[in-house]
Amino acid sequence: MTDRIFNFAAGPAVLPETVLAETARDLMALPGVGMSVLEISHRSKTFEAIIDGCEQDLRALANVPANYKVLFLQGGASLQFSMVPMNCLPPGGKADYILTGSWSKKAVTEAKKVGTVQIAGSTESENFTRIPEPSEIRVDPEAAYLHFTTNNTIYGTEWEKEPVSGNVPLFADASSDIFSRPIDVSKYALIYAGAQKNLAPAGVTLVILREDMLARSPKNLPTMLDYNTHAKDKSLYNTPPVFAIYVMRLVMKWLLAQGGLEAVGRRNAEKAGLLYDTIDGSGGFYRAHARPGSRSNMNVAFRLPSEDLEKRFVADAKGNGMDGLKGHRSVGGIRASIYNAFPRAGVEALVSFMKEFARKNG
Ligand SMILES: Cc1ncc(COP(=O)(O)O)c(C=O)c1O
Repeated sequence: MTDRIFNFAAGPAVLPETVLAETARDLMALPGVGMSVLEISHRSKTFEAIIDGCEQDLRALANVPANYKVLFLQGGASLQFSMVPMNCLPPGGKADYILTGSWSKKAVTEAKKVGTVQIAGSTESENFTRIPEPSEIRVDPEAAYLHFTTNNTIYGTEWEKEPVSGNVPLFADASSDIFSRPIDVSKYALIYAGAQKNLAPAGVTLVILREDMLARSPKNLPTMLDYNTHAKDKSLYNTPPVFAIYVMRLVMKWLLAQGGLEAVGRRNAEKAGLLYDTIDGSGGFYRAHARPGSRSNMNVAFRLPSEDLEKRFVADAKGNGMDGLKGHRSVGGIRASIYNAFPRAGVEALVSFMKEFARKNG
C-alpha cells in the first residue's frame, strides 16, 4: 500500500483506514453481487440494504427519536443555507441566527433572500474568537427558528452546549463536528451537515429533521428543494450519491465499533487537549485563535510570532509527513483539523514537531 501521511485538512478530510481498505477491496465487486457499488442501481436490493443500514446505525449512534426523518441529500451544507429558510421560514415570519463565523454569515445571507433575519447574538466584533455567552443571546419567542453553527471550522471555536431556544425550534449547521461527541437530537428540530469531514467523502449531505417541520414547506417549492419530497421517498426520489452513502454506511459501522459517540468524544477531547496544552505551554510562541471555553476539538487554529515562521512551519511540517496545516486565509496561521478518523499518533507527531520548532525558532 502507498504510504499515508498525516492529513490535517479541514475537509474533505481523513477517513478511517479500515473503511478505505474495505472500500478498496470491494470496489471491483461487492461480495455476492459481482458489481461495484459505483455501478449498481440505487433501486436495487443491495443499495436498499446499504442506505437502510446506514440510517439504522446512524439512528442507533445518535439515539435519533422515531419522530425524526433522516435524509441523504446533495448540494452540500451550502444548499441547506437556502433549503432551511425556503422550507421552514413562513411568509411574513422571521428567523433568528447566531453569528459565530463565516459559515453562519453565509447561512444568514441566504436566509435574507427568503425572509426576515434577526441576529440573536454575534461575536463578530471580537473576530469570532469565542462563542457568545448565554446572557448575550436574545431569542425572539416568535421566531420561526433559531439557527446556529455548532463548530466554526475556520475560527476553531465550538459550542460546549447548544444555545437555549425556549419554545423556538433549534436548527444547527453541524457540518464540522457532527458525531464527534454525543448529541441530544431531541433538543433540535433540524440538524444538517455536509458529510465530508466526519461522516463520508464529499457528495452527500445529512439532514435530520423533526417531522412537524415538514408541514411548513410551501406547496409551490421546486420539488427537489422540498424536504417532503425526500422524506416521502426515503431519499430515493432521484438518484442519490450512492458511493458517498456507501462509505457513510461503513463509517457508521466504524463509529459503533469505536464504542459509539461517548467513546469517540472522549478520544477527540484528549487529542485536542494535547494540542491546546502544547500551545498554552509554549510561553507565548504559539497563540490559539479561540479563547478557552470556546475551543474546538475538531479544528485547532493558532498563530506563530510571524507570518514568515508560519510559512516555514507549514513547509517543514509537510517535509515531516504532515499536510493540510495552513490556516484559512481569514484567520491566517495554522489550523490542525483533527476529526474523528484523525489518529492520535498524528496529533502526537504534531506535538513533537511543534515543540522542536518552537525550541529552534523561539
Ligand atoms: C460549518 C460549515 N458549514 C458549511 C460548510 C459548507 O459545506 P459544503 O461545502 O458542504 O456546502 C462548511 C464547509 O467547510 C462548514 O465547515
